[in-house]
Amino acid sequence: MSHLPAANRYANPALYRRCGHSGLQLPQLSLGLWHNFGDVDDPANRRALILRAFDLGITHFDLANNYGPPPGSAETNFGRVLHADLAAYRDELIISSKAGYDMWPGPYGEWGSRKYVLASLDQSLKRLQLDYVDIFYSHRPDPLTPLEETMGALAHAVRSGKALYVGLSNYNPEQTARAAKILRELGTPCLIHQPKYHMFERTAEHGLLDVLTQEGIGCIPFCPLAQGLLTNRYLGGIPADSRAAHDPRFLKPEHITEAKVGQIRELDTLAQKRGQSLAQMALAWVLRHPTVTTALIGASKVSQIEDNLGALKNLQFSPEELATIERILAA
Ligand SMILES: NC(=O)c1ccc[n+]([C@@H]2O[C@H](COP(=O)([O-])OP(=O)(O)OC[C@H]3O[C@@H](n4cnc5c(N)ncnc54)[C@H](OP(=O)(O)O)[C@@H]3O)[C@@H](O)[C@H]2O)c1
Repeated sequence: MSHLPAANRYANPALYRRCGHSGLQLPQLSLGLWHNFGDVDDPANRRALILRAFDLGITHFDLANNYGPPPGSAETNFGRVLHADLAAYRDELIISSKAGYDMWPGPYGEWGSRKYVLASLDQSLKRLQLDYVDIFYSHRPDPLTPLEETMGALAHAVRSGKALYVGLSNYNPEQTARAAKILRELGTPCLIHQPKYHMFERTAEHGLLDVLTQEGIGCIPFCPLAQGLLTNRYLGGIPADSRAAHDPRFLKPEHITEAKVGQIRELDTLAQKRGQSLAQMALAWVLRHPTVTTALIGASKVSQIEDNLGALKNLQFSPEELATIERILAA
C-alpha cells in the first residue's frame, strides 16, 4: 500500500537553508543511505527510515553508485520505496547520487573519466527507476584524468537532463577552486561540496570551508556523528546492534579506544548541560558554520532520526562552550 505522507511535514519552514548562492533549499538534516539500506538490511526498516524522514520534512536523500552491500543495492532499494510509496512526491524530493569509487571491473569502472562517470549515472538512474537525479557528484578527485574531462562529464549530465545540479566530494581546497571555475565556465555552477567533517575530523576547516564561502558553494558534511562515535552509542561498550559490532568495514572496534570514549563522555556531559543529547550537540556544532547547508546523517533506527532533528532547537554555542569542546578534543 502506498504511503500517505504526514500532512504537517512542512510545518517548520526554519528547517530549510539555502544551498550556497543557488535557488535550492535543503533541510538542515539530510539522510544518507551508505549503511542500513543494502540487500543485507531489513526491508521493513529501510522503508520505515525513508518514510519517517520524509514525514519529518527531510526532503534530501543521498546515495552513491556503490552503496550497499552489495554495491548498487541501496539505489535499487531506495528506488523501490520511492516507486511504491512516494511516486506522487518526486517533485518534493532531492535525490543525489555519485560516481568515483570502484563499481565494475576493468578500466572504465571507477575514478573520473567521461566514459565511467556518464555510464555510472545511467546505471544509477536504472536502479533508482528515475529519469534524473537532483544532484550528481564526482565522488572523489581522479589524479590521472584531466579535471576538465570529469567536470565536462558532470556538465553534460545536466545538459542531457539526467541531473539538475552537480557537486564535488572529497576534493581538497585547490581542486575545488579549479573545478568550480571550470564548472562556471561550462555554465553549470557547482551547487554543493560533500566533505567529511565532524568534531574528530577538522580538515575541512583548513581552507575548504573558506573556498566554499568565497565560491558560494553549499556544504553537506558527511559522517557528522563520526559514524556513531559522537552519540551515546559507545558510552558503555560496543552494543551488538551498533555499526562497530555488525558492520565494521569502516568503523572498527579497535578505533573505539579508552581515550576516545573518555573524550566522548566529556562531550556528553557538556551536551547534557546544554539540554541536548550528544548526537544533537555534534550536529549543532557542524551546523554552526554559516557555509554548512545541511548535515548528512545516517541512521539505523527511526528513533535516531527523530532524536537528531531535536538538534535544531539549540544551534547556538557560547564562546565558553566552544572553548570547552576545543579543550576536550585537544586532550
Ligand atoms: N562522500 C563520501 O565519500 C561519503 C563517505 C561516507 C558517507 N557519506 C554520506 O554520509 C552519510 C552519513 O554517513 P554516516 O552514516 O557515517 O553518518 P553519521 O551520522 O556520522 O553516523 C550514523 C550512525 O550514527 C548512529 N546514530 C545516528 N543517530 C544517532 C542517535 N541519535 N543516537 C545514537 N546513535 C545514532 C547510527 O549508528 P548505528 O548504526 O550504530 O545505530 C548511525 O548509523 C552516508 O549515508 C553517505 O550518504 C559520504
